[in-house]
Amino acid sequence: MATKQIFLLLLLPLSSLQQLQSQTNTWNSNFHLTPAQISLANLSATTANNVEFAVRYERTNNAGQLTRHDPFYDLPTSFDPANPPPPGTVLKVEQYTNITHYTIPMSLSMSRFLYTTETLNGTSMPASAYVLWPYLPRSFPDLTPYSTDRDSEDPLFPIVALAHGTSGQTQSCAPSNLRELWGNFQNSFPLALSGYAVVAPDYLGLGVADTVSPYFVLPSHAHDLFHAIAAAQQTWPGLLSKEFAVMGQSQGGGVAWASAQRQAQRPVEGYLGTVAVSPFTDVLDIIAADDQAQNNGRVVAIAQGLASVLPSFEVSEWITEAGLARLHLLQEIQGCGLTGAQLFSAEEGTVQILKDGWNLTESAKWYDSTNSNGGSKPFAGPMLVLQGTDDPNANEPVVTQSVRKTCEAFPEARLEYLRFENITHVPALYAGQHIWLDWIHDRFAGIEVRNGCVEKLHKPSRGGRSAEFEGFGVQTWFIQLWS
Ligand SMILES: *[C@@H]1O[C@H](CO)[C@@H](O)[C@H](O)[C@H]1NC(C)=O
Ligand SMILES: *[C@@H]1O[C@H](CO)[C@@H](O)[C@H](O)[C@H]1NC(C)=O
Ligand SMILES: *[C@@H]1O[C@H](CO)[C@@H](O)[C@H](O)[C@H]1NC(C)=O
Ligand SMILES: *[C@@H]1O[C@H](CO)[C@@H](O)[C@H](O)[C@H]1NC(C)=O
Ligand SMILES: *[C@@H]1O[C@H](CO)[C@@H](O)[C@H](O)[C@H]1NC(C)=O
Repeated sequence: MATKQIFLLLLLPLSSLQQLQSQTNTWNSNFHLTPAQISLANLSATTANNVEFAVRYERTNNAGQLTRHDPFYDLPTSFDPANPPPPGTVLKVEQYTNITHYTIPMSLSMSRFLYTTETLNGTSMPASAYVLWPYLPRSFPDLTPYSTDRDSEDPLFPIVALAHGTSGQTQSCAPSNLRELWGNFQNSFPLALSGYAVVAPDYLGLGVADTVSPYFVLPSHAHDLFHAIAAAQQTWPGLLSKEFAVMGQSQGGGVAWASAQRQAQRPVEGYLGTVAVSPFTDVLDIIAADDQAQNNGRVVAIAQGLASVLPSFEVSEWITEAGLARLHLLQEIQGCGLTGAQLFSAEEGTVQILKDGWNLTESAKWYDSTNSNGGSKPFAGPMLVLQGTDDPNANEPVVTQSVRKTCEAFPEARLEYLRFENITHVPALYAGQHIWLDWIHDRFAGIEVRNGCVEKLHKPSRGGRSAEFEGFGVQTWFIQLWS
């Protein structure tokens, strides 16, 4: 199978579909494409087969059922789309999520809620989010409750707002409806197990029906993050802290950085700082540095949502007829990231997905200037950036350049940049886990960060001999339900 391993690493914690195929006897989906779907999208037999596997895997990962069949994601009847309440309003709360269908660590619990977020142009839109609660909150002497109207015996949970990596673009790709919340032991689990309440939005368009995902429009996702925090604090005013730290990886790393920039423009009380891991900074530069198979999927994904923030844009400006047919299929079958990878990276060389020169259009220039992080855009520190030097997705030289340009523009900025030799995109979270957990702890503990930029290069302490012996890149496992 010709699937690019590198591309899958970005989208899914598995190295290849072949590994999945040995697990299918316990899958709960027997999805098939119809002959009409295969022919309309002009799929080869191999691609059709891989798409079916990908969809089955994704459906199995839903916590119980497809998002559109889970009544939690239905808007309350009182919600009027023509006249929505302001951004940050709570619409619906599921206090205790039935975790039978999730694979979260024992002792943790979950809530989900619907709330209103904000599009890039300020329009209020409904979206979903989850909270992952620890058994016992970590206590900090100076932590303050969002509301003082509470019982002094009540537990007080410090908030870490988590921006997720790419899950996909359709309604079915909401991390709050995925068994392992799309972050598992990379981020959400260790945060909750360390005593933080993890507040995590599904980006706009994922979860609630009839909304469009402005995929990779990082400032838009940053709105989701801040409004989800506000909505969670209003829902549990005595239990949640006023203080919060921001964290994210990959797309979410770009969102975390964009959140620090939003905080510089629109300060929110309680902000303690940001951790951006393997972050997307200058998206077009990163795309130019990445391989074609990976770019096909990402650019189609950006194009499918761009008109929701740039009304003059049409998907056909960037995407070929062949690409549009596959995008239509992706939407019809409610596929997520892995399915997209099969549809857009397959048959490389025979099927052209992106139009030549798409990245030179006015829309691409607008997208680039709106989305790029760093450089002359101020941010609210402190910020910790972690980056693997072997990252095939958030390309390290581009991230390093973004950090350095930011530090040149703002020499007093509190930015710590740590690079990890031999480490790729997702493993940066594992390689640096105790560092970012301690960093977040220190912010809640009120430890000051000195002004200025700091850079450090870490090397594997056992010598960096080989990926086989030290687990630098490929994930060899995934989390399965017992039954
Ligand atoms: C269908 O895909 C094949 C490659 O599998 C390609 O050669 C052919 O040009 C495609 N047809 C159309 C109409 O895009
Ligand atoms: C939780 O979900 C399981 C599996 O669907 C179901 O058997 C159980 O009754 C549910 N529990 C409650 C309290 O709804
Ligand atoms: C703002 O964006 C929303 C959808 O994202 C769109 O429906 C609305 O027309 C836009 N408003 C303006 C003034 O552009
Ligand atoms: C546009 O894409 C081409 C082909 O991938 C690449 O060589 C070029 O550097 C890109 N230009 C910009 C401005 O990103
Ligand atoms: C680790 O990185 C160093 C420096 O780039 C390189 O020399 C070495 O071959 C790498 N090791 C592995 C296993 O990739």
